[in-house]
Amino acid sequence: MENEKDPDRKRDSPASGEKEDDRLKKIRHKIVIGSGKGGVGKSTVTANMAISFKRRGYSVGILDADITGPDIPKLLGIEEKRLTASDEGIEPADSMGIKVVSMALLLESRDSAVVWRGPMKMAALKQFVFDVNWGELDFLLVDLPPGTSDEPISVVQLLSGMDGAIVVTTPQDVALLDSRKAVNMFLMMGVRVLGIIENMSGFRCPNCGTVVNIFSRGGGERAARELGVDFLGSLPLDPRIVSVSDMGKSFIENGDIGEAFEKIVDRLLEKLSEKKV
Ligand SMILES: Nc1ncnc2c1ncn2[C@@H]1O[C@H](COP(=O)(O)OP(=O)(O)O)[C@@H](O)[C@H]1O
Ligand SMILES: [Mg+2]
Repeated sequence: MENEKDPDRKRDSPASGEKEDDRLKKIRHKIVIGSGKGGVGKSTVTANMAISFKRRGYSVGILDADITGPDIPKLLGIEEKRLTASDEGIEPADSMGIKVVSMALLLESRDSAVVWRGPMKMAALKQFVFDVNWGELDFLLVDLPPGTSDEPISVVQLLSGMDGAIVVTTPQDVALLDSRKAVNMFLMMGVRVLGIIENMSGFRCPNCGTVVNIFSRGGGERAARELGVDFLGSLPLDPRIVSVSDMGKSFIENGDIGEAFEKIVDRLLEKLSEKKV
């Protein structure tokens, strides 16, 4: 596990001569998105949240810190792009005005696997945190590796001056058990938990309109209450989310699911304004 007092941390950025922490200071809000386990929709939420912020007039970047499952470029339709280097460091790729840094934008092909051991992953994550030329940003969203292992912990430790964490969960007990661990990990690290989002919450049959609670429903809200953190809202299980996401597009213009998501973003912005903005 990396240490806050890591001597490397304050070194001058080799590329620009700028202090590493200064780059992060140019970003008004840094938010990490975590989950107790993979496959709950963490990347889908991150990508669409960035699009929602952008549409509201904010400047946004996404740091895809999920080194082994870097899905943000696919979700934003920029799988073919690659990161470049300049005198200022790593230049993020652009998707619809959103700045993106991801391991997937460095790999030879989209099916290449990152089979690195811990220290190499950590070196890559450090570069992603400190050597990227984000410029001025209103929001940096960080898609964390899933779970509560060394990797998400290290990323959180590297990011100074963070606003807080969002935990994405699905409603079934097993996922909730893991999500509680994720919430507790953030709290133990002194990171403010901005709230829980329950994803894949209930399914409304497009043919008959009956609501089927495939993964159960409401557990995210109950868990939030028990843990004393905010509940930001829920997003239904909806096949439209899969199809537009697979095409690298957003679902936020998609009627009811878009509205449900925008409400979540409204609540998050409200929550952020409680402290600063
Ligand atoms: N609300 C939802 N309804 C239906 N499918 C969803 C929903 N949220 C996410 N998905 C799908 O579930 C899969 C996993 O989502 P992803 O965001 O990659 O999860 P994670 O980043 O947590 O591993 C993707 O195929 C995605 O399109
Ligand atoms: Mg993911």
